[in-house]
Parts: sequence; structure tokens; C-alpha cells
Amino acid sequence: MVSVSETSVGRKGRGDSSRAATFPTGEWPENAKIVAKQVERSFPKRKLAVHALGPFDFQADDGEFVCLVGPSGCGKSTFLRVVASLIEPTGGAIGIRSNAPSPVATVFQDHSVFPWKTVEENIRFGLDLVSNDHAENSRRARSWAERLGLSDFVDSFPSSLSGGMRQRVAIARALAVEPEVLLMDEPFAALDAQMRLILQEELLRLWQADRRTVLFVTHSLEEAILLGDRILVMSARPGKLVADFKVPFPRPLRSAGPPSSPICMNKCGPFCEKKSIAATPRPIGRNDDELRG
Ligand SMILES: Nc1ncnc2c1ncn2[C@@H]1O[C@H](COP(=O)(O)OP(=O)(O)OP(=O)(O)O)[C@@H](O)[C@H]1O
Ligand SMILES: [Mg+2]
Repeated sequence: MVSVSETSVGRKGRGDSSRAATFPTGEWPENAKIVAKQVERSFPKRKLAVHALGPFDFQADDGEFVCLVGPSGCGKSTFLRVVASLIEPTGGAIGIRSNAPSPVATVFQDHSVFPWKTVEENIRFGLDLVSNDHAENSRRARSWAERLGLSDFVDSFPSSLSGGMRQRVAIARALAVEPEVLLMDEPFAALDAQMRLILQEELLRLWQADRRTVLFVTHSLEEAILLGDRILVMSARPGKLVADFKVPFPRPLRSAGPPSSPICMNKCGPFCEKKSIAATPRPIGRNDDELRG
């Protein structure tokens, strides 16, 4: 058992921007990476306040892939922003067990890339914030560009990329800093079905390789079942936890070693357009006929 005060970055909501150094009380649950207790968030609106979230209790274990679903406006993005420390909770407490100065990376709901930066500069953005070793940052950015099928576009600007490619840049930028916790807010929602399938599979492959803790917001139950270890269901605003399911099906990508995606004869990588989506194997036991079609 780990003492929370030694290992967590955490904060208490106080309705202002102050941050508590440690999680409030008790011992940190074994294996837990993120713990939220009675977290609430309101936004001021003229004389009233919009109560967006909570009280919301949450726990994600180290290496767990948790999907969050719920109706539009129920506070999913708000919760992710609280976890990412982008906003403070107005009530409750939240903590992430980590010794890293910035353990979290976020992929936002829209394609949030910097239009004035090239693909490489976008991907290395987080790396440049923590290290002045430009050669190493460049090498790592190019390596992530290659893993996300963007090798031929490292010097391109986002305006010359498709929406799917821009989202891959955002994902590469988040993964390049090797975060302990990856927060993804409907990262594939704006993509066409084919690109969504490819990126879902690629995300699982990457997750399988290094097992980050992932908190993934989606409106698609199929996507949640396909990707998640657990699915949390939120109520309408103010969002509260109404159900917490463990996905009961095995995920072959997780248990049977490397993925079995068809490889283009030209060895173009996972995003080669010559690759047949129909031939892409889907996880057995998951009800994703719609995706298969
Ligand atoms: N910065 C803000 N200022 C004021 N109100 C906000 C702010 N951010 C969110 N809200 C309000 O909080 C509520 C929850 O918003 P949030 O974006 O978290 O919902 P969501 O579950 O992510 O919705 P969607 O599925 O449509 O993305 C909404 O009523 C929204 O209007
Ligand atoms: Mg949202």
C-alpha cells in the first residue's frame, strides 16, 4: 500500500485557484492511478451557476483503459479538464499517483494542433517544454510521426493535412511525452468510419506496448466496448456516475501478442491506403458488426 501524500499530485476543490499539495485523507487505494472523490465543478453564469459535474467519484487503476460515456453536456470534458489540471474542481478532491512533474497528456475533442507549426514542431511541442536537447527531441518527434504514419509529412503544416492526419498529429504529440496518464476526449469523433477503425486499432496497439492509464471519452458504445477495460456511464448534467461496467470480453490485441493487421506489400506502415479495411481483423467476442461492415 502506498501512502498518498508521498506519491500523488493532488488537489482539493475550494472554488478558487488554490491547490492543495496532497490528497486529503486515508491511504491511496492499491494499484490506483487516478482517484476522484466527490468532485464537483460549477461555472458562473450571470447570477446563477451552471452545475456541470458531480459529485463524481472515480478511480482508475494503473495501466487501465477506462471509457467514459454519457449524454452531451453531462460534464465529460469538464471532468477530463479537472483531471488534466486545466481547471480546478469547485468541490471534492482529485489525485494522480505520480512522481513526474507533468504525468498527464491530453488529446482534445477538436483537432487541436498549432496551425503555424509543422507536423514535427507540433509533435515535439511537449518535448521542447521539458528539454533543450533539440536533436533528441527531433529524433523522438520523427519516430512518433513514423509510428502514426506521418513520416512523409513531418515538414508539412496542418493546413495541408486531412482531418484524420491532424488528429494523428495531436495523438503523436500527446504520446511523445510518454505520459503516465493519457486523456482522450472523443479523439476520433470527427473522423470517417475507416480512419476511426484504423486509429482505434493503432491506439490499442500503442497502449498494449506501454500500458499507459487511459481515460477515453466517447459517445459510441461500440467504441467503448472495443477499446475499454471498463465503461463508466454518466447521468445528464450535473454528471454523476450511474454505472460502472467491466468489459467481459477478451481483447485479442491485448492477450495474443502483436496485432494481426494486414501489412501492405509495399510495407507502407499501418496507414497505407492500400490496406483493405474489410480484411482488418476485428477483436473476437466484441459486438461490432457495424464496424466490421
Ligand atoms: N468554460 C465554461 N464556461 C461555462 N460553462 C461551461 C464551460 N465549460 C463547460 N460548461 C458547461 O458545463 C456543462 C458540461 O460541459 P462539457 O463540455 O463538460 O460536456 P460534455 O459532456 O463534454 O458534452 P459533449 O458530449 O457535448 O462534449 C455544459 O452545460 C457546458 O455548457
Ligand atoms: Mg465534451
